Amino acid sequence: MPILYNGSTREFHLHTQKVSYIFSILENNQLGHLYYGKKLRHRESFERLFHIGESPNTACVNEGDLVFSLDLIKQEYPAYGTTDFREPAYQVLQESGSRITNFIYQDHQIYEGKKKLEGLPATYVERENEATTLEISLVDEKTGMEIKLLYTVFEELNAIARSARFINHGQLEVNLTRALSASIDLPGSDFEMVQLSGSWARERHVKNRKLVPGIQSIASTRGTSSAQQNPFLALKRPNTAEHQGEVYGFSLVYSGNFLAQVEVDHYDVSRLMIGINPFDFNWLLKSGESFQAPEVVMVYSDEGLNGMSQVYHRLYRTRLARGKWRDRERPVLINNWEATYFNFNDQKILELAKASKELGVELFVLDDGWFGKRDDDTTSLGDWSVDRRKLPNGITQLAEDINALGLEFGLWFEPEMVSKASELYKAHPDWVIRVPDRQMSHGRNQFVLDFSRQEVVDFIYDLMSEVLRDAPISYVKWDMNRYMTEIGSLELPANRQREVAHRYILGVYSLYERLTSEFPDVLFESCAGGGSRFDPGLLHYAPQGWTSDDTDAVERLKIQYGSSMVYPISSMGAHVSAVPNHQVGRVTSLETRANVAYFGAFGYELDVMMMTEEEKEEVKAQIAFYKANHSLIQKGQFYRIESPFAGDGNITSWIVVSDDQTEAIFGYYQVLARPNPGFTRVFFEGLNPDFEYAIDGIADTFYGDELMSAGLQLDRCREKTHPADFSSVVYKLKRI
Ligand code: DGJ
Repeated sequence: MPILYNGSTREFHLHTQKVSYIFSILENNQLGHLYYGKKLRHRESFERLFHIGESPNTACVNEGDLVFSLDLIKQEYPAYGTTDFREPAYQVLQESGSRITNFIYQDHQIYEGKKKLEGLPATYVERENEATTLEISLVDEKTGMEIKLLYTVFEELNAIARSARFINHGQLEVNLTRALSASIDLPGSDFEMVQLSGSWARERHVKNRKLVPGIQSIASTRGTSSAQQNPFLALKRPNTAEHQGEVYGFSLVYSGNFLAQVEVDHYDVSRLMIGINPFDFNWLLKSGESFQAPEVVMVYSDEGLNGMSQVYHRLYRTRLARGKWRDRERPVLINNWEATYFNFNDQKILELAKASKELGVELFVLDDGWFGKRDDDTTSLGDWSVDRRKLPNGITQLAEDINALGLEFGLWFEPEMVSKASELYKAHPDWVIRVPDRQMSHGRNQFVLDFSRQEVVDFIYDLMSEVLRDAPISYVKWDMNRYMTEIGSLELPANRQREVAHRYILGVYSLYERLTSEFPDVLFESCAGGGSRFDPGLLHYAPQGWTSDDTDAVERLKIQYGSSMVYPISSMGAHVSAVPNHQVGRVTSLETRANVAYFGAFGYELDVMMMTEEEKEEVKAQIAFYKANHSLIQKGQFYRIESPFAGDGNITSWIVVSDDQTEAIFGYYQVLARPNPGFTRVFFEGLNPDFEYAIDGIADTFYGDELMSAGLQLDRCREKTHPADFSSVVYKLKRI
């Protein structure tokens, strides 16, 4: 049983195959944390893991007792104001003005499987016995409130999912001013915090910093999880590297404003907490109402960052992403955005589609500009009906024509937005996120629809579902191109204005839920001006996301490497685009551009009509290679080998290995060529030491043990490693 409860010691021991997580009910009936880390043999009592002792100059709970202080106790879901001076996981503002509560253990339930989280994306099970769930009820007698702490243990997958639900059983209304998903107190502060930070076109760069006393945090206030910070944080030991050492990962299944922070206290305890950003948040909870906090997925690994990432990859690929496209091979697509931008008509599109089909492309995606009067980014968002000036025969006819060429057809939407120059805005100027009598800031000339309002979501659902019903559309790219400002809803009362950002995301999820249920055969790809909302929340509905608007092969090394900390490569849209690259002007070879994009959901985003015959032949070979290895890439285990964030970042390498270890694809990339660089040896990962492998393009064969321990000397394969800037090799390995 992966969840054990000992009634006499009042201890819970949650364990996966490799991990233990232990906590207990304290003498004051609150919950205290005991241990999280490598699996421990179960025993009757873990009481000695409870550390407490008299401490000078602190506050104590019980009169006459100088020991029991929450300031010193590792806690499971802490509150502020009752002797713990660190930041709390939650806070309840009551009608009296009091923020003091005393949530104590009432009872618990352990059951096989996992329930859905109301209105929120979350990990799931397909068979009851894949996971076990513990629900603990904590009750505050004075307010009549209950907190349900939820823990789901994925025993084989080695992950634990946590969340919290607040239920107001009392008579009076209360305000949740803070409702984080999880908190954990780890002993010691000898950790580095790993975060995925960046900006537009340079999303999810890996950053490390050493913990120091006080609070260190990452957060989003932008209305999306953001390109600036991803809702993920890990604590690793200073000597933890890609393949060895301890690391704790915390990944929040949420797409809105979040906070992830670590507070190191005066006894070097590191309190990590993660959840909805309490800044500018408040939730009015009336009698009988409840509030569900998003899920956080916790992964402990003593096999380095790769060990942690592989747990996330498997869990997120198979039990977070869902729907038919989760396991299906995704089509090799071509997207017209960088080929035409807004400037196209049906002839141009059909020309591109025809030429793409000849290269082996399977899906043609028509991007922004097909609706309203959208010749640039100042108009028409919200008017989801075809622009007959560009496409006189309509979307249905275009989709059918493209189908007739032997290609699937996909379409771009930006459902959450409206332009002032649109029929929608004219009809419903109040449907915008805004604050009365204040200016409305814009982003890319557009405004955010108020998805906290049901009628707005319904309206957009009707428009989109009509387009999807009328035309043979098998793919939707769901874009979102600006952050939120002046966050407010004209519909909600004053005391609910701080709910808008969260209600908005719930609206987004509900639209995804409806559309993916009604159109289960459609492949959804999420996007937000590239990767500004590339997070586990959206991965639940859309099994792939547009990783970044930056398609330069060299920049993509960092973006894809960083994203792979949490996200499986099957979730990363990766396209070969034109050179000079439209984002950074760099010229890289067609070979290197494909060598990077292979490690993702592969496609093209360029004007195939501009390609030479020689380039077309190369593209045909690339697509054939990808198709031949599709399943290996989409479902294999991905290992990062050399990091673009290490040293001068000149070398990146990685490998994807099939589950049975009989096949692998290895990628090696050099940014700048160096004069007389010496020898280059790469140590492979993830192979079977006893299998003998042939490597395409190399005459010798190799056992896995040699490739992993002695390495492959790349210089022996000169014909493939050109000593040039931005050069790369991709090798296919096959067991013989
Ligand atoms: C931003 C996306 O990331 C691009 O791929 C493209 O779809 C544009 N929006 C269209 O406006």
